[in-house]
Amino acid sequence: MRFQVKYDKNKSLEDSVYETKQQLYKEHKLQALFFEVTSRCNARCEHCGSSCGDFVPKDEMTYDEIISVMDDVAEHYNPKDIMFFFTGGEPLVRKDFFELTDYANKLGFAWGVTTNGMLIDEEAVKKMVETNMYSVSVSIDGLKETHEKFRKVPGSFDKILKGIELMHESNAIPVVQVTTCVNKKNIHELEEMHKLMKEIGIKNWRIITVDPIGRAKDNDELLLSPEQYKQVFNFMLEKRIEDPEMTIMYGCGHYWGNVLNTMLIGTFYTCFTGYWVASILSNGDIFGCPDIERLPELIEGNIRKDKFSDVWENGFKRYRKIDRTCNETCAACPDWKICTGDAFHTWDFKNNKPNFCARELYKEEFEQRDALRGITKNSKKTIKKTTTKKTTTKKTTTKKTTKK
Ligand SMILES: C[S@@+](CC[C@H](N)C(=O)[O-])C[C@H]1O[C@@H](n2cnc3c(N)ncnc32)[C@H](O)[C@@H]1O
Ligand code: SF4
Ligand code: SF4
Repeated sequence: MRFQVKYDKNKSLEDSVYETKQQLYKEHKLQALFFEVTSRCNARCEHCGSSCGDFVPKDEMTYDEIISVMDDVAEHYNPKDIMFFFTGGEPLVRKDFFELTDYANKLGFAWGVTTNGMLIDEEAVKKMVETNMYSVSVSIDGLKETHEKFRKVPGSFDKILKGIELMHESNAIPVVQVTTCVNKKNIHELEEMHKLMKEIGIKNWRIITVDPIGRAKDNDELLLSPEQYKQVFNFMLEKRIEDPEMTIMYGCGHYWGNVLNTMLIGTFYTCFTGYWVASILSNGDIFGCPDIERLPELIEGNIRKDKFSDVWENGFKRYRKIDRTCNETCAACPDWKICTGDAFHTWDFKNNKPNFCARELYKEEFEQRDALRGITKNSKKTIKKTTTKKTTTKKTTTKKTTKK
């Protein structure tokens, strides 16, 4: 999925980005469907956005329920246009996981999985290959000691490396990626991790930064400081030059300003939720993205009573308007037309404000940049205000927020 701006030479860059987004939101075209096949997990990561492993869910979707969604999607859309991503919890703890992937494959869908890698053995790799897995993203959050302490599973690191080796040996999996969630406890190991990635033959390294959600919310022992964010970005940009053979990507993320976003993700910032991306949570709830705060008012439907395709076509309205994440501050912000309220997964619905805003993090730098662009504090007021109604928060279904 790639956000491509339709440039109009008669318009400013900001207007072109803004209008492209408006158009995309309206058109909505499903490109990625996340199946959170379980919220069970065999790890207890300190940062887990889904707070996984803390409870035993009683309402997990059955095999039949999941494949009925796949059938529905195959009937209404072209499987070639849509990729399925299996996530969790830990997807591989499901005994029927490869029966699900087999079914998806036979319907013609490309599929990928995000996994903590602890259950990847010869048998699993054989099934990955048999069911045509396109991509796997294995989480490694530091060198051995840091990773195991952080994920709270002694002995897991070597198993994960063995799993990666087996997948490489199969020579049949197009994308074997490692995802590293950078936080205060592993940032000092980035350089060594880069060496590790090379040693284990990883050509595709996805770096994400810890978000203030789930168990990481308000956790100052994990959340990065503004200087540390810069350190991560500088590291990525340097390594890309030093080692062009390795693709180092910044995942999903946030609005950081046009220059940095273009350098990090190769395009302008956008959050795909609800017009290109949808997800089905482990209890069957139809949701924008598994990482968004799980509030009852954000549930679009449930696969036990609704057809996914109906909901995709007729629901998801909150995601398909330009001021979907907006408040007075965002609407009056000089970066509004490009940032449009940052990411859904860090939007604070209760207080109707972003939990993450690059301008707050780098106040002085953004103000200096505004001055260069001739934007003064007063001139900000001339930007059209389009406030959205505050989302009222009733009781939450679960206390957790999730990260895919
Ligand atoms: C929720 S996990 C599910 C798949 C699998 N259990 C795993 O750990 O890879 C998917 C990804 O989300 C990341 N993640 C979890 N909590 C996060 C947070 N608070 N901020 C950023 N990423 C987070 C994990 O590190 C992992 O790479
Ligand atoms: S990040 Fe993944 S492995 Fe860690 S607790 Fe959450 S779901 Fe489990
Ligand atoms: S205030 Fe922050 S989150 Fe809102 S539009 Fe501006 S930069 Fe984005």
